[in-house]
Amino acid sequence: MRRPLVAGNWKMYGTRQSVDELLSGLNEQQWPEEVDLLVAPPALYIQQCHQMLEGSPLRLAGQSCAFQAEPGALTGEISPAQLRDAGCEFVLVGHSERRSLLGETDEVICRKFAAALASGLRPILCVGETREQYDSGETADVVGRQLQAVLDTFGVGGLSQGVVAYEPVWAIGTGLTATPEQAQDVHAMIRARLAVLDDEQARCVQIVYGGSVKADNAQALFDMPDIDGGLVGGASLNADEFGAIARAA
Ligand code: G3P
Repeated sequence: MRRPLVAGNWKMYGTRQSVDELLSGLNEQQWPEEVDLLVAPPALYIQQCHQMLEGSPLRLAGQSCAFQAEPGALTGEISPAQLRDAGCEFVLVGHSERRSLLGETDEVICRKFAAALASGLRPILCVGETREQYDSGETADVVGRQLQAVLDTFGVGGLSQGVVAYEPVWAIGTGLTATPEQAQDVHAMIRARLAVLDDEQARCVQIVYGGSVKADNAQALFDMPDIDGGLVGGASLNADEFGAIARAA
C-alpha cells in the first residue's frame, strides 16, 4: 500500500572531495528493493551526484527550492524546475532549520509545495514541534497547523503526491531520538487528521520520521505501523550507516 522511503539530508556539509568519497561508499552498498531511496546534497553537488549515481537506485532531492516554478529575477534562488532539470525527483520544503533560522512561514512553504508539484517534483513537507511546544503539549496543534497550510490548498490528494516528514525539532541533531512509540503516536495523529478529510488517500501518504535516526534505532522506528521510513541527517553522511538504515526499512 505504501512504499517505505529513506532519504538522506546532507544539509550544508561536503566538499567535492568528500562528496566523491561518500558517493563511492554509497555505490558499494547493497540497497533494498521496494524502498524509495534518495539523497539531498547541497545544490552545488547535485550534478556530481547525478553523474556518480547513474544506474543506482538512489534518487536525488533538493534541500529547498524557490517559491515559484517559473524562471525569474530571484537572485540566489534555485527553482524547482531547475532542480528537476538537474536530475532531482524530490525536494524538501519547510525543513525546521529553514523555518527557524531563515524565517520560512507556512505561507511560503505552501507556495514552495505548489511550485514543486508544478515542476514534477515530489515535495517532502517537513513538520515538527520545538522542545518548548512539546513540553507544553502543543505538538498536535503545531503539526496540525503546519499540515493545514498545505491541506487548505491541496487536500489529502495533493499531499499524497508528496511526502510528509515528521521531525521533532528537539530530536534533530541532538541524539535525542524520539522513542518509536512517541513517533508512532504523532504519525498516527497525522494519519488520523488526513483520514477525516479523505480516508482512502490518507492510507497512501508516506509519513517518514526524522530526528537522530541511526543504524541502531532505525529498525524499531520503521517497525511502527505509521512510520513509513526516515529522513536522515547526520547518519546519511556515512555510507555504511545510511546503507544500514535503508536496509532496515
Ligand atoms: O532532515 C533530517 C534532519 O533534520 C535530521 O537530522 O542529524 O538528527 O538525523 P539528524
